[in-house]
Amino acid sequence: GRKHKVTVVGSGNWGSTISKIVAENTKLYKDLFEPEVQMWVFEEDVVVPADSRHAAAAGSAPQKLTAIINEYHENVKYLPGITLPDNLIANPSLLDAVQDSTILIFNLPHQFIHNVCDQLKGKIVPFARGVSCIKGVNVAADGVSLFSEWIGEDLDIYVGALSGANIANEIAAEKWSETTIAYDPPTMDNSRAPTPRSASPSVGTVDLAQVPHKDARGRTSKSKLTPVPAEYPPLDHECLRKLFHRPYFHVQMVSDVAGVSLGGALKNVVALAAGFVEGRGWGDNAKAAVMRIGLMEMVRFGKEFFGETVQTGTFTESSAGVADLITSSSGGRNFRCAKMAIEQGLPVSEVEKRELNGQKLQGTLTAFEVHSFLSTRDRLRDYPLFTAVNDILVGKAQVDDIPSLVSKIDHDE
Ligand code: NAD
Ligand code: 13P
Repeated sequence: GRKHKVTVVGSGNWGSTISKIVAENTKLYKDLFEPEVQMWVFEEDVVVPADSRHAAAAGSAPQKLTAIINEYHENVKYLPGITLPDNLIANPSLLDAVQDSTILIFNLPHQFIHNVCDQLKGKIVPFARGVSCIKGVNVAADGVSLFSEWIGEDLDIYVGALSGANIANEIAAEKWSETTIAYDPPTMDNSRAPTPRSASPSVGTVDLAQVPHKDARGRTSKSKLTPVPAEYPPLDHECLRKLFHRPYFHVQMVSDVAGVSLGGALKNVVALAAGFVEGRGWGDNAKAAVMRIGLMEMVRFGKEFFGETVQTGTFTESSAGVADLITSSSGGRNFRCAKMAIEQGLPVSEVEKRELNGQKLQGTLTAFEVHSFLSTRDRLRDYPLFTAVNDILVGKAQVDDIPSLVSKIDHDE
């Protein structure tokens, strides 16, 4: 039979780390996957830093980042000091990188995904399946959607979600962590009926309204999906576990795509709040308070807007929920930049530019997006912490206002 070909779309701090993980596993499970993994790199000219172990060999002239990664097996800009497997190939061409790939892993800051999908439309294997590692939500005039569902609908493929308490640098150094992968494709993928004979792009599609399937919000999907041909290993929980699970990266497979995606997106807003109170010089009690209130607002948001399928336990028990909230509010970039911003009296965006060397915060944009979504629906009142974070970011409120803003609701009710 045939084997799955894997492409990682994105190569930042987390994109490079996930690429390392899957390339280690494709080498291990040769019956399931082509060993070579493609990683799409947003090309840029980079000078290898003077403190890099490759500095002497590389010299001080700027070089293409893809050339550096393929020569030294290290992403010296976004994941310095970590050796990447030699079966991982950096590719500056998005369309070339996804060619013939049956598993697409989306891993880039959420502000860039629309542009990437525009380029991919109609250019990918029609029966490909995706996993989104993006922590953010897509907010449009007509509502909020998850990147897993948004990418899936845009590209006519099924996309699940990976999210957890996963600070990339720790995992890249092979320090133990857990993660949660939500994957719940239409049953035709597992029962494999109806299944086209050929793997050519001309295979027929299946109207999802005709198979027993509900999307991440419990709706009967209106889109069409191309079944994975029978020549390929079934793309099920077991297959995905083998692709992502490592001795230092423990995978829990679940079906709650909405809960996993929302956990990863909304905790970034709470991590900013944790950074604000710590930057203000308050202690662990204040941080625990914003985390408690933040977790309640995350559950409330999930129940209110994705209520058909979201399980409270995904927020309160899985790595993608409470565990990610804790790690992100301890050492994540959103937390660290928010803390510094308050300590130094600077906008978070300025600290982000100065401190992160091109890495991107997701919490600020998510806070604005969630705020505009709630505001349009006149629902800010029940989300005082999310609202306070937005207001502090835009200069409408101070950290000192947080206690009264978040306790108003308890007193009123
Ligand atoms: P990052 O913060 O390192 O972002 C930089 C990446 O963006 C680089 O690869 C850069 O080339 C790319 N980029 C810059 N401009 C671009 C453009 N115009 N078009 C396309 N790409 C462009 O990224 P990351 O840490 O890999 O984050 C990806 C996702 O993973 C985010 O949603 C993040 O929340 C999530 N995540 C990150 C971590 C972490 O610890 N870094 C952990 C878990 C999840
Ligand atoms: P930051 O983007 O705030 O670093 O969070 C990383 C993360 O998602 C940890 O799970």
